[in-house]
Amino acid sequence: MPKRLPVGIPQSVEEITADWLTHVVRSSGLVTTAQVLDFEVGSPGSGVGFTGQTLRVGLTWDVVEDDAPAAVLVKFPSQNVGNRGLAEAEGGYDREFDFYERLAHLVPIRVPRLIHAIRDPGPSTASRKRRERLVDGLPEAVVRFIGRHARKLIRASHRRYALVLEYVPDARITTAQALPPAEDLAEILHTLARLHAHFWRDPLLADPAVLEWSMVSQMPNVMNGLYRAWRDEVVVRRPDLFTERFMDHADWFSDNIERLAAHLDEPLALRHGDSRTDNMLFTDAGLVLIDFGVSGSGRPAGDVAYLLSESIPPGPDARETFLVACGDYHAHLLGTGVDDHPLDAFLVDCEVVLALQAYRAVLIEATYEADYEGESLAELWAPRIAALLAEEPPEI
Ligand SMILES: Nc1ncnc2c1ncn2[C@@H]1O[C@H](COP(=O)(O)OP(=O)(O)O)[C@@H](O)[C@H]1O
Ligand SMILES: [Mg+2]
Repeated sequence: MPKRLPVGIPQSVEEITADWLTHVVRSSGLVTTAQVLDFEVGSPGSGVGFTGQTLRVGLTWDVVEDDAPAAVLVKFPSQNVGNRGLAEAEGGYDREFDFYERLAHLVPIRVPRLIHAIRDPGPSTASRKRRERLVDGLPEAVVRFIGRHARKLIRASHRRYALVLEYVPDARITTAQALPPAEDLAEILHTLARLHAHFWRDPLLADPAVLEWSMVSQMPNVMNGLYRAWRDEVVVRRPDLFTERFMDHADWFSDNIERLAAHLDEPLALRHGDSRTDNMLFTDAGLVLIDFGVSGSGRPAGDVAYLLSESIPPGPDARETFLVACGDYHAHLLGTGVDDHPLDAFLVDCEVVLALQAYRAVLIEATYEADYEGESLAELWAPRIAALLAEEPPEI
């Protein structure tokens, strides 16, 4: 078992101290001798999320130093052990640390500056992979059982994680409930094209020492066990959302999960991974991308179709709008000089990702605990995804 670091790492609001905040900001070089006298903890926006606690911490300094931040953003893991275990099994916290420690300073887009990152060591990549392969290779009935009881069976670790980032003030975001204006969507797509192009087919994307996380799941068979265990119940519960066409796509993804997951993971680009509009901060100085908790490498459609699957008003024109937006993204990707990812291949990938989104909506309906103001996330997303789906799943 890896050991814990021999230092205190706060994991909740109650454990934060002025001394720790002083140490954290000094470690970044933003201040040298100034000291935090007092601090005030608040919610930055959405507050306590599914995977973790995100806090805005306002700072009062004893002396004025030019670069001393007036506030920082602190992220701790979830205190809900079920959510936390599920998040950790997919690299939930490690992915975001990996991104900020290894890549954030290299990307050609705006992301919050890293101020401090500290986490207890986890198992080595090799031993984690061994365990993932072992569990994922268990017989179908066992995997289905694990899937059904995942929240109880997948244990949270005792590791501590604290990530401190630049707080981006006065930002405008579009929540999951709302739909973004077309100009915002275009700006996000163009920013994603620049991000994707920057590390295009770079060997570091395939280097397990840098990035080693799947777009779909670390254990696709376990995820599929969850799907199979709940699928029928979910359809009976919400036939209005999980229509026959919807389920054709979701089931197609389920039936081909290993092959499709491997396809989507081909390391063409660095992916943001959770390109929802509530992870996009619009400021006077431009767009800032946040929340790299599911970042990794893979095919760029993973970000593009994921974003569009929640951002286009459902209705008869939705699919046409989707195809135009995909074309717009692709033109920008081409404009950066990426000339070996043809539009037709990209569009097929987008269809695969829509099927993945349909599949995920079923899982969300089956397992999600958090509500969005009375509506489940599936209730918000499923109609938006449904409006984009083609008649049939793609041929691939
Ligand atoms: N650096 C930041 N500056 C300002 N607000 C932020 C920052 N990071 C996160 N937020 C706000 O906190 C919310 C949750 O943070 P996020 O990193 O997306 O965590 P989660 O994993 O819970 O979605 C965001 O939707 C945004 O409103
Ligand atoms: Mg988020």
